[in-house]
Order: sequence, then C-alpha cells, then structure tokens
Amino acid sequence: MNIKNRRIFLTTSFWAGIFGLFSTKVSGASLTPSDSQGPFYPITPQKDKDFDLTQVEGVTGVAKGTIVNIRGKILDENLTPLENVTIDMWQANAAGRYHHPHDTSLAPIDKNFQGWAIVQSGMNGTFNFKTIIPGAYKASGTWIRPPHIHFKISKIGYHELLTQMYFPDNELNEKDFLLQSKNAAEKDLMIAKKVNDSDDTLKYTIILKSI
Ligand SMILES: [Fe+2]
Repeated sequence: MNIKNRRIFLTTSFWAGIFGLFSTKVSGASLTPSDSQGPFYPITPQKDKDFDLTQVEGVTGVAKGTIVNIRGKILDENLTPLENVTIDMWQANAAGRYHHPHDTSLAPIDKNFQGWAIVQSGMNGTFNFKTIIPGAYKASGTWIRPPHIHFKISKIGYHELLTQMYFPDNELNEKDFLLQSKNAAEKDLMIAKKVNDSDDTLKYTIILKSI
C-alpha cells in the first residue's frame, strides 16, 4: 500500500466510522429521480479513479477549486442501506470544463483534477468523495448548467440509476431546465444537504429501486 492509498484507506475508514453520527433524512421512500447522463461520460481510460478527485496519482499538484467532501449513503425503497453498490461519478473541473475530447469549452483543463471516480458503497451503504465544487458551464446560448455531479449507480437486483447531484443554495439551480423539470420532493432528493451549516461537507442520499 503506497502512501496515497494508505491515506485513502484511513480517510475512508474515518468517514465510514463517523457517518453514523448524522441522521439520514429522506422524503419518505421516494426514489432518487433519474436525470440526463449528459454528453461527457468519460471515454478516455484513466488509472486513478479513487475517491479523492483532488489529486491524481503520479502528479504532484492539487486540483484548483473549493474542496468539498461528499458523504453519501445508498438505500433501497424500504430505506435499508445497500452495500457493494457501484458508484460511478464524473464532473467538470472548477472552471466548468470536462476532461473529455467532446467538450469544446475554452475553459482550461486542470491536470491535477481527477474528474472521474468509481467506488463501492461500504458498511451501512456509505460512500465518500473528496472533490472540488465543479464550475458552472454553458449548455447553450442561454442555458448555464449549475454546478452538478453526474452519477451512475448500479447493483445487481436494482434498476441502474443515472442522476445528477446539485449543490445547495446555488442561484443557478432555479434557472436550470433539468432541475426545474422536477417537482419539489424530487428536487429535495437531488440537492445535497449541508452538514452543520458547513460548506465543505455535504450529505447526499440515493434511494434505488429493486427489480
Ligand atoms: Fe454535466
């Protein structure tokens, strides 16, 4: 185990241990709504897809942007935690640029930003990501996507879920065509929650439907 992996192991164990201190509020047993996959699912293979997106293995720098820790939890429709769920997430960098050959944005690529991660949920359905708040980006001439993280969630015996996680208190949320197509309860499930008014840690609960 190299130093980075050891640090990841210790950090993951730490978050998994304290996650139980925070209650998980969900809107009844509503399922997490699906949302567009978007055009930028990663297609360039990369070795480092661990939970820490702020550093890339073999690169010495740290990603630009505001660091945020996402404490996630996966439940089924009966609110039972699900372990060994595959959580595949990708997002733009702090400048709003995806590390994807089809992203024609002129915003800079950040070589220190991992951009893509795949992890498994652990005990009590928990998972964690350390990342940066993605930048907003233009989706069309008049449409600016608010900061969001794309998720693809899968586990045998459950419907695969493609969705997007949004950030609390972002004014662009109210103008986003995708998010505003959801009702209030759905939006509530799609917008991560602050922990103790902290901006650096967010809770995000995902509810899957069994087949
Ligand atoms: Fe996107």
